Amino acid sequence: MFTVISILLALCSSSLCGTAQNVRSIPKHILLGAASSAFQVEGAWNIDGKTESIADHLVHSQKCYAKDCSNADVAANSYYMYKRDVEMLRELGVDFYRFSLSWTRILPTGFPDKVNEAGVQYYSNLIDELLKYKIQPVVTIFHWDLPQKLQQLGGWTNPHIVNWYGDFARVAFSLFGDRVKYWITINEPHQLCHYGYGSPYIPPAMNLTGEADYLCSKNVLLAHARGYHIYDKEFRLWQEGMIFITINAEWFEPESEHDYEAAIDANQFWWGLYTHPILSRSGDYPEIVKHRIAVMSTKQGLLRSRLPELSSEEINYIRGTTDILGLNHYTSYLAYRNASTEEYYGNITGPSFDADCGAMNYQPGDWQIGETNATMYAPWGFYKLLTFIRFEYDNIPVFITENGFGNSGALIDDDRVLYYRGYLSAMLDAICDGSHIVGYTTWSLMDSFEWPNGYSIRIGLYQVDYNNTSLPRTPRKSAYVYKEIIRSRTLDMNYEPDMTIPLSVDNSTSNRLTHI
Ligand code: NOJ
Repeated sequence: MFTVISILLALCSSSLCGTAQNVRSIPKHILLGAASSAFQVEGAWNIDGKTESIADHLVHSQKCYAKDCSNADVAANSYYMYKRDVEMLRELGVDFYRFSLSWTRILPTGFPDKVNEAGVQYYSNLIDELLKYKIQPVVTIFHWDLPQKLQQLGGWTNPHIVNWYGDFARVAFSLFGDRVKYWITINEPHQLCHYGYGSPYIPPAMNLTGEADYLCSKNVLLAHARGYHIYDKEFRLWQEGMIFITINAEWFEPESEHDYEAAIDANQFWWGLYTHPILSRSGDYPEIVKHRIAVMSTKQGLLRSRLPELSSEEINYIRGTTDILGLNHYTSYLAYRNASTEEYYGNITGPSFDADCGAMNYQPGDWQIGETNATMYAPWGFYKLLTFIRFEYDNIPVFITENGFGNSGALIDDDRVLYYRGYLSAMLDAICDGSHIVGYTTWSLMDSFEWPNGYSIRIGLYQVDYNNTSLPRTPRKSAYVYKEIIRSRTLDMNYEPDMTIPLSVDNSTSNRLTHI
């Protein structure tokens, strides 16, 4: 009798559902992987024919763009060390690796008049190395490092970029689509437009809020749709892959019962601006976003809204252009709006995304679980976000393409371990309620150039020692824990790895070439 009860208990204790459990199983069909992006890890910024991107330009022209005045000229040197990167992926036993293509490494003029053989060879080698070990390449076509030449022509504010991007995407499909089955068109449109064109935080650091960011939004949506349609019409049939966009969505929760409207508006401005045109049945920008920007624009004496309209033809061109949803998520915020908010924004007379949105947000201090506030911990927000997406967008399959925790870099990173466990558990809760999750990606495989934070914030499963010219990578505790999660397909809240044993390649876990 006792044995039967203990077997039953053991079975229960590793089931998928039941938040209170310390051991939960992860459905086997969910792909587990890790990610990086070209500029943040490759280095070799001007090697073998690669030309300058807006990211190279920014770190060279503003020496202290990054907090620590660093640049990414060498970064983690993945251009030369990609075999070690793949070895790390094998050590972890991942199903896939998400990485991005550097546009100027492949097309040095920005246009397809000249294809750079050495750049093509690099990605080809990386893809072959991954496939050799049965790791799926998940390729982001554009992760923020636009050719500087195209920026001189207006970058993402110039409508011609829809053609420029489409041409680049077509080159990528033709070169690598025989081996790549997962394509991500564009990474994080909100961050690209809001921080790249509306603020000084990421390249090209235009800092024209409420204007350049909205021009960018429209062009990004159309360019993404162009990439999708090209793949759909010209490549899908014989390449048999899938294509989707990756949108970052942080969750805005009402601070109080009076703040529902503020939270809804914040969610719609920060990411609904991109999910709604692509995923909703009606298409187009969210009504509330169109309305608020139009009203503010009129108040400012403008003759038309600063958010350029989408014509009905454009609405149809964009709607439905993603096979699944790529979702990046890190944290949540409390949103509110009250009399002092109105007064504060009322004093901003020029164009401003924040004033257009009109909601304030913050993160309470007790969400901090590490020594820095780089990523505040609120896993319940992840659950709410996934649940919202399930209801709002007909339970579209979601591929979590980034989730991760920044700190100052110790090898024993218990804060990151706690974070991953909390967020994976929230994801499992959402799955239990019916959310359709197809993949989960940790950001990042290794420490990398963290945009305005340079190397001052570390976010890798592997630590990169930038003080050593051979840039050795060392697994953190979180790498050991993630490996065990992948190996056992269970989330064990109490698992303690033995870090005296080097993390090594385990062939039994690294040989599944799995598909969604
Ligand atoms: C999102 C971006 O895609 C990535 O480039 C960045 O490093 C991470 N967030 C972490 O900040």
